[in-house]
Amino acid sequence: MTGEVGYFQTGTYGPASDSVLQAVRETMETEARHGPATPAGRRSHTEREAAARSGLARMLNVREEELGIETNTSRAMQQIVRGLDWQEGDEFVMTSLEHVSTYGLSHSLEQEYGVKVIVLGSEEIDDEHLLGDLAHVLTDRTRLICLSHIASPNGRLLPCRQAAAIARDAGVPVMLDLAQSVGQMPVDLKELDCDFAVGSGHKWLLGPMGTGYMYISQDQIPGFRPNFIPDRSPWSLPDAPTPAPTARSRTEIGTYNHALVVGLGRAVEIMESIGLDTMQKRITQLSSRLRQGVGHIDRARIITPQEAGKSAGITSLMFDGFTKTDMDGLVDKMHERHQTVVKSQWLTAPPDPVKVGMRISVAAFNDESEVDRLLEGLDEEL
Ligand SMILES: Cc1ncc(COP(=O)(O)O)c(C=O)c1O
Repeated sequence: MTGEVGYFQTGTYGPASDSVLQAVRETMETEARHGPATPAGRRSHTEREAAARSGLARMLNVREEELGIETNTSRAMQQIVRGLDWQEGDEFVMTSLEHVSTYGLSHSLEQEYGVKVIVLGSEEIDDEHLLGDLAHVLTDRTRLICLSHIASPNGRLLPCRQAAAIARDAGVPVMLDLAQSVGQMPVDLKELDCDFAVGSGHKWLLGPMGTGYMYISQDQIPGFRPNFIPDRSPWSLPDAPTPAPTARSRTEIGTYNHALVVGLGRAVEIMESIGLDTMQKRITQLSSRLRQGVGHIDRARIITPQEAGKSAGITSLMFDGFTKTDMDGLVDKMHERHQTVVKSQWLTAPPDPVKVGMRISVAAFNDESEVDRLLEGLDEEL
């Protein structure tokens, strides 16, 4: 996909490979040619889709019954959160580094149900203090904790495993936002030991646009009864046994785009064949080249934690005295004059006019020459 440009925007949209696009195209064409409901049409997607779902489950180290497919992280999160039985006075805990869509959702919880939202200030404090604050705010009214595995604004890897352990001790469920981690590093949900998780296929997984997923742990599935999922008994013969609920049966409803699921499965297959360890190593290598280079640019300040294991492929920068307009202008110049695509990023939600960053997403498909061109471009424009 790159070639002409150095593309550093995978944290928003990752480019799908030809092989992924071909899988989508073939599935759509076969369905259209044979009629989706004919045996030939169904065969074209049923097996491949089943393989896609089990591939995704294997990659995340969960059971297939614990996964549901969605179109993006934001919708998957809405489904999980709105599937819980909120009562006035319940508490929702999140970090201040969550994505703007989580902020929006938390406002809805306040307004619609009278939920108390607790935002843990997370920018300036280390993991130990963040975890201490988390333990401190939990009460018997805490209904859900939400945190990003990798924070969208600054690329910080949050201490999810430790947070989940604190939550488990307190008997509070945890939902992880995996939008920025899955596809750039190995992610093992059993090890992270969370109750719910959500993610996108169209970012680091390099899957088709408009793909996402949600995880509901086996323990949570029986109690998860969202009101938008109809009773399934009218689909069964009167005396047939009721099948055990799955994440899929509790989150998916009606017809969806099979081809996109097949394409997502192909993206997962590619990731697995390369190996997520290999991807992570490459991303770390290129990111340290970038960070070292930025260190020589006077006006640029890296706001992403740089200690080993505290961040991954996202590097966010701030430039002294820059407004959003300045940043947008610089991002445009980087594209027009230096063939480099980066992102102008609000660092807070709602936006704080003096907190604007440049978010650079270094993916495994990038190369040294693109990183060097980015650095030369910044040096020239600043
Ligand atoms: C941490 C995080 N969560 C959620 C989202 C929203 O993702 P989507 O557009 O797939 O809903 C993003 C997008 O950048 C993100 O970084």
